Amino acid sequence: MNGQDKIWIFDTTLRDGEQALRASLSHKQKIQLAHAIARLNVDVMEVGFPVSSPGDFESVQAIAQSVKGPIICGLARAVSADIEACGAALKDAERRRIHTFIATSPLHLQYKLRRTLEQATEQAVAAIQLARRFTDDVEFSCEDAGRTPIDDLCRIVEAAIKAGARTINIPDTVGYTIPNEFAQIITGLRNKVPNIDQAIISVHCHNDLGLAVANSISAIQAGARQIECTVNGIGERAGNCSLEEVAMIIKTRADVLPFYTEIKTTEIYRSSHLVSQICHMPIQPNKAIVGENAFAHSSGIHQDGMLKAQNTYEIMSPEQVGIRQNELNLTSRSGRAVISHRLAELGYGKEDYDLEQIYAAFIALADQKGRVFDYDLEALVFFQNLQDDDEHYQLEFLSSSTHTGHVASATVGIKAGGEVFTEAATGNGPVEAAFSAIHRVAKLDVKMVDYNLQAKGEGENALGQVDIIAEYEGRRYHGAGLATDIVRSSVLAYVHVLNLIERSKRIDAVKQARRQA
Ligand code: KIV
Ligand code: ZN
Repeated sequence: MNGQDKIWIFDTTLRDGEQALRASLSHKQKIQLAHAIARLNVDVMEVGFPVSSPGDFESVQAIAQSVKGPIICGLARAVSADIEACGAALKDAERRRIHTFIATSPLHLQYKLRRTLEQATEQAVAAIQLARRFTDDVEFSCEDAGRTPIDDLCRIVEAAIKAGARTINIPDTVGYTIPNEFAQIITGLRNKVPNIDQAIISVHCHNDLGLAVANSISAIQAGARQIECTVNGIGERAGNCSLEEVAMIIKTRADVLPFYTEIKTTEIYRSSHLVSQICHMPIQPNKAIVGENAFAHSSGIHQDGMLKAQNTYEIMSPEQVGIRQNELNLTSRSGRAVISHRLAELGYGKEDYDLEQIYAAFIALADQKGRVFDYDLEALVFFQNLQDDDEHYQLEFLSSSTHTGHVASATVGIKAGGEVFTEAATGNGPVEAAFSAIHRVAKLDVKMVDYNLQAKGEGENALGQVDIIAEYEGRRYHGAGLATDIVRSSVLAYVHVLNLIERSKRIDAVKQARRQA
C-alpha cells in the first residue's frame, strides 16, 4: 500500500480479555465473539489457553474448526503439556499459531519462577522447538519484558529466533513503561540482536498507566510490526491496548504514520458493542472511537461548526467506524424484508440470526413500543443468540405487584424439562419477590453476586437490560435479560443463569462419563 508498512493486528480479546472477566464466557458466546472478531479482519486471533481447562480447550478447538480467515492462535506456557494441548486444540485450523511465553525480568525470574535467565532461556528454546513440530508459525513472548534489562532481553530473543520463533513479542506486562522508553527497547533489540531480521517484532502493552496505546504506537515507529490488542481494550487489570484506537490512529494519522492495517474499520462499532454486551463490560461514554459521546457535539459553537463543515470538529466520521444513521422508521407495519435490510446495514449477515424468530420478537416489541430503533434490533439479535434451542428452563408467566408501604409479591411459572412449576413469594421489592419464587422452583443454591440494570435506548420507551452475576458450586455465571418491564428482564436473566448451570452440569456429566469409559 503506497510503500507503507503493514502493521499486523493480533487480537487477544478471547484470551487476555476473557481472562479478566468476572464470569467466564460460555462456549457459544466465545464462538459468537470469535466470528465478530474475524469479521474485523484481524490478522491473528488468540482465542484461549487450551491447557487451562477442558472448556477452554473445546472452545479453541471449535473456533479453529469454524472460523476462517485470520490465523488462529493459542497460548501455552513454555512447558510440554501446554504446547501439546495447544497443538491438539489448533489441529484443524486453516492457519494456526502457537504462542509460548516465559517471564524474563529479574523480579519474575527470582520470585515467580525461581530460575536464572539461562535456565529460562533453555526452557524457552525447548518449548519453541516442540511447538515447531505442530506448526511453523511460533510466537515467543518474554513476559515482563518492559522490566527486563535490554542485554538479558537480547540474549533470550536471539536464542528464541534461533530455535524457530518467527514472531517475538515484547509485552509491557504491568503497563509500567512510557512511550520513548518502550520505543528504546524495540530499537535496542533491532540494533543488538544479530538474527532479528528473521522475526517480526510484536508488542503487547497493558494499560496500568493509561499508556498502552501510546506505547504501541511508539513501538511501531521504532520498528515493531505487530500490535497485540483487544476490542474495547479489555484485559488484565486496567486492560490491554485497544484495537479500535490503534486501528483508527493508524488510519486517521496516515500523514505522519507510514503504516496501514487490514482492519475493516466499519465493523468496529458493532464488534465493540457485542464485546461489551457479552462480556458484561460497559463502555465508558467518553471512550475514544466507540463511546456514546465519541461523535456527540454538545456546545453551541461546536454544533454550529459541524453544520458548516464536518471536519471542524470531527477528525474521522462515525460512518468510518460503522455507525450509521437510521433513516427508516421501523414500526409494526414494517415487513421482514425491511428488517433484514436494516440488519444487513447494521452489519449482520443472514447467518447471524433466524429471521422468523427475530421478526416475531420485533412485532411484539413494536406493538409495545410503537417505534423500534437500531439498538432494539441489535438487542433482539444479541438475545436470540443467547438462547439455545434446547433450553431446559423457560419462563411461562410472571405476575408481580407492589403497593407503597407493603411487601411486594410475585408469582412465576417456570417450565423445567417440559413441566410447568408455579411458585409465589414476597420480598422487599418485586424483583426480590420474583427471585425468591424462582429459587423455590429451581431449588438450587444460587447466590447473587452482582445485579445491574441498564436502559437500552432513550426516554421512557427504553428497554431495560438486566445483567446478573451469580455463583453456583464455586462457578460464576453471567445471565442477561431484556424486556420493556424490568421485573421481567430480571426474571429472564435469572432463567438464563439457570440454563447456563444446567448446561455446565450436562457438560460435566459427559466429561465424567468419558473419563470413566
Ligand atoms: O501480559 C503479558 O505478558 C501476557 C503474555 C502472556 C503475552 O499476556
Ligand atoms: Zn497480557
